Amino acid sequence: MIFVNENFSKLKAGYLFPEIGRRVNAFAKANPDASIIKLGIGDVTEPLAPAVTDAMHKAVDEMATHQGLHGYGPEQGYAFLREAIVENDYKPRNIQVDADEIFVSDGAKCDTGNMQEIFGIDNVVAVTDPVYPVYVDTNVMAGRTGEGDDSGRYEKIVYMPCTTENNFVPELPSEPVDMIYLCYPNNPTGAVATKAQLKKWVDYAVENKAIILFDAAYEAFIRGDSIPHSIYEIEGARQVAIEFRSFSKTAGFTGVRCGFTVVPKELVAYTKRGLAVELHRIWSRRHCTKFNGVSYITQKGAEAVYSPEGKRQIQKTIDLYMSNADMMREALTQQGYVVYGGEHAPYIWVHTPKGVDSWAFFDLLINKANVVGTPGAGFGAAGEGYFRLSAFNDPDKVKEAMDRISKI
Ligand code: MLT
Repeated sequence: MIFVNENFSKLKAGYLFPEIGRRVNAFAKANPDASIIKLGIGDVTEPLAPAVTDAMHKAVDEMATHQGLHGYGPEQGYAFLREAIVENDYKPRNIQVDADEIFVSDGAKCDTGNMQEIFGIDNVVAVTDPVYPVYVDTNVMAGRTGEGDDSGRYEKIVYMPCTTENNFVPELPSEPVDMIYLCYPNNPTGAVATKAQLKKWVDYAVENKAIILFDAAYEAFIRGDSIPHSIYEIEGARQVAIEFRSFSKTAGFTGVRCGFTVVPKELVAYTKRGLAVELHRIWSRRHCTKFNGVSYITQKGAEAVYSPEGKRQIQKTIDLYMSNADMMREALTQQGYVVYGGEHAPYIWVHTPKGVDSWAFFDLLINKANVVGTPGAGFGAAGEGYFRLSAFNDPDKVKEAMDRISKI
């Protein structure tokens, strides 16, 4: 008899964004004339940069020739892309990352979800609350948790509340934890962590032989120089942190699929007998076994993100999204909402009106304004009472959405 992985039945709800998609489709079907403005899932709306599409077109033409055909590529990614990443993302910030510590992949969602596989099942997972659901759900699937309760919290996971009191950056846990998921600039709150705040976490991880899984998918949205873009800007982080990056939001690759993960060579985890094992070697083994690399055409497009014209074009798009964020913060504040985030991240975290929970606010917004957002409760118990709006959309649509919300 075939047995099922019963951990899947512990999952409390469907994955958040398809669930929202389902509700939006049902609303659209019932209201065919409604012009819906989507500020829910953080999906890009601006076209790919010309530098990127030019590079991809050229790569397609190469692939149409005998000499230029690229079959299976290196699983870890082509050297031209890994070297461009080092030269442009890390060297200018004086961060030591070697090209062979970079693993190119089809995105940060997959990598943050898959990385837990290389860690023992008895490790204690710590997540912020609210949190990007992938970190939690993949650990539930793996069997690293107990049952979930009605608020969506699972036994054996340590939840670290992120609230207005701590500026959405968690305190160190009071019980020992091993796998610490941090995401800054944060999804969903749009908050950022300072160097001093991250240093506390790095020191904690060093002291407790823990590991930090640092999701930096939104680093390109940081404005100014005071906020760290990489966990490796923090002294000691190479010993304890894995960093995830993505071209999805940075360069509009949500539909193209490309990201990368940095696993420093000095990173270790331990066997039950206390033997240190290099994580780079284990992740490489896992990556090569289960993944055949990102297509040459996509990696050529990603390389062009780092060309001078690519950089200029991409920055223009990021500026457009961030001016949406400014517009939303300003309009909602004027309307009397309390808003957070949106200064160094493409997400605005809004307090729902008193007495209106986050799913009720979702219903209110879609029904009365035909605007879609994401209920804070979908990101965890501490997200209740909040609502996330994404800045990824056309500025005219964002303006229209703010006008409509003002009339509710
Ligand atoms: C989000 O809206 O939180 C993200 O777009 C989802 C993702 O990147 O997987």
